[in-house]
Amino acid sequence: MSVLDGLRVGFGEDAHALVPDRRLVLGGVEVPSLRGAAAHSDGDAPLHALADALLSSLALGDIGVYYPPSDPAFENMDSREILSRCLGTLHSRGAELVNAALVVTLDTPRLGPYRADIVRALENLLRLPPGRVGVGFKTSEGLAPNHVQARATVLVRVR
Ligand code: C5P
Ligand code: MG
Repeated sequence: MSVLDGLRVGFGEDAHALVPDRRLVLGGVEVPSLRGAAAHSDGDAPLHALADALLSSLALGDIGVYYPPSDPAFENMDSREILSRCLGTLHSRGAELVNAALVVTLDTPRLGPYRADIVRALENLLRLPPGRVGVGFKTSEGLAPNHVQARATVLVRVR
């Protein structure tokens, strides 16, 4: 018997090009920006990365398998809905989310002022109490000025 019994880690990643005249939505929070994510959907890279992380924790593939953007039913699906469905998939398999950690890489705008809003939005979406969602921001140091990237890990406990 090990303390690690029943624990699973998940990892997910997503990126979108930044283009004019699009909204920049990160973790369900709209951030004022001259450019937003080029995408069929709302292009919420953090939510897509978290959804993939949830699925990967139970080796269930990624959101493209379940919600293919080529399928008109999912093309414009709200990313919050996708994340909520992935959480439901975990619950239906007897698993529960322990915590989530996210890093968003973006050169501009600065995201620090929105951290508290993004954390609160993710706590609500993931149904986690305060202190279980970590959100970090990084610039690419100018190496990737035209895209927004998100990476997420989750810890899951299987009952
Ligand atoms: O990537 P770098 O080390 O330059 O980030 C320095 C600081 O800038 C970090 O504290 C990070 O939270 C913040 N940051 C930010 N908004 C971004 C990128 C980084 O507030 N878009
Ligand atoms: Mg740095």
